[in-house]
Amino acid sequence: MNDKIEDEFLEQLQAEIIEQARKVYSHKVIDRWLHPNNLRTIENPQGYGKMTGQCEDTIEIFLRIVKDRIVEATFLTDGCGTTLAAGSMVTELAQKKTIQEAFRISKDLILKELEGLPKESEHCAQLASNALKAALVDYLASKRESWKTPYHKR
Ligand code: FES
Repeated sequence: MNDKIEDEFLEQLQAEIIEQARKVYSHKVIDRWLHPNNLRTIENPQGYGKMTGQCEDTIEIFLRIVKDRIVEATFLTDGCGTTLAAGSMVTELAQKKTIQEAFRISKDLILKELEGLPKESEHCAQLASNALKAALVDYLASKRESWKTPYHKR
């Protein structure tokens, strides 16, 4: 196969995969799957959480926090498309929230904002919520024992 034919074949294949995915996933999920928001690290985050699910996928959450309010939330994952969508959504929801408000970002809220996920993918939303909570707990622990901060992040 020459390069041009190979490129066209791959483009067509990708278009077919996306077309099939549109029958199963909402527009919001597909959009974040293809173009996730906040997919990056933060240097020296005030809160950092890392959780691995039963499926062995991992989500890491990074928080920049000023006066107990999240001013930046980002994530990394080695997971699949729905994990990307859940990580994107949880960090979008966390922006500008106080710590108390962010603790209320649950699996159900992430699912609602994504307009649902298939039953077998709902655990991706749980993983994203758990990773955020781990980052919030990390922030609170660092606040109590701030001398530890330089030693325990990533
Ligand atoms: Fe495991 Fe999404 S498939 S977290």
